[in-house]
Amino acid sequence: MHIDILTLFPQMFDSPFSASILKRAIDRKLVSVSLHNIRDHTHDKHHTVDDYAYGGGTGMILKPEPIFETVESIKSGYANQESSQSPVILLTPQGRCFSQEIAYELSQCGHLILICGRYEGVDERVREHLVTDEISIGDYVLSGGEIAAMVVVDAVVRLLPGVLGSEASAIDDSHATGLLEYPQYTRPAVYRGWSVPQVLLSGDHAQIAKWRREQAIQRTLERRPELLDKANLRLEKRQLVNRLKKS
Ligand code: ADE
Repeated sequence: MHIDILTLFPQMFDSPFSASILKRAIDRKLVSVSLHNIRDHTHDKHHTVDDYAYGGGTGMILKPEPIFETVESIKSGYANQESSQSPVILLTPQGRCFSQEIAYELSQCGHLILICGRYEGVDERVREHLVTDEISIGDYVLSGGEIAAMVVVDAVVRLLPGVLGSEASAIDDSHATGLLEYPQYTRPAVYRGWSVPQVLLSGDHAQIAKWRREQAIQRTLERRPELLDKANLRLEKRQLVNRLKKS
């Protein structure tokens, strides 16, 4: 996968991309990331990227020309057919709410173009004529789309084949199953008098799987009950949910 990121602050991406899983994925060439400074695509002496809003208002609006030109210069490096199918995603609090499902959807694309908005907004013509998707990482306002882009890149890249040590690690993740993840323990078996649940020490794989399933459902019911309505639960899980709801 290749990811192009348009931003006014490329340096913000230095540390998240130089540590942990993202760095390993980049080093192993499972993903490549190019940062593009929108300011490099301005033509005036002051490298102006924003301007006052027509109709008045306090905030500055990102101008359309440098954003269009940056995306067009990225696309010109790809074969026509290839680049016409690449999603061009604007990170904005007005977008559809990011989820594990969207992360899976994006992980199937060979190429993503992410545009980090800034200031009070982006000229609407960018939305109407350039962008193919808008994503928000939650109902709060960040100073810009950079941190949101990092969140999206992290969630997508860890789903690419070969990025995680074991493919199973992503399968059991919270949200991957539509449920929150079950509790996890490691050694020691007893810490400050707090014991690891006996079933996990039993070596009985069927019982362990059953316990984990039940714990995941119970935890989801307690913390995020609305997820259970969306999760595609098999009959056995539905029965357990009903039992837990009644108790
Ligand atoms: N830019 C500012 N706030 C944002 C949010 N919540 N999600 C995505 N991009 C943003």
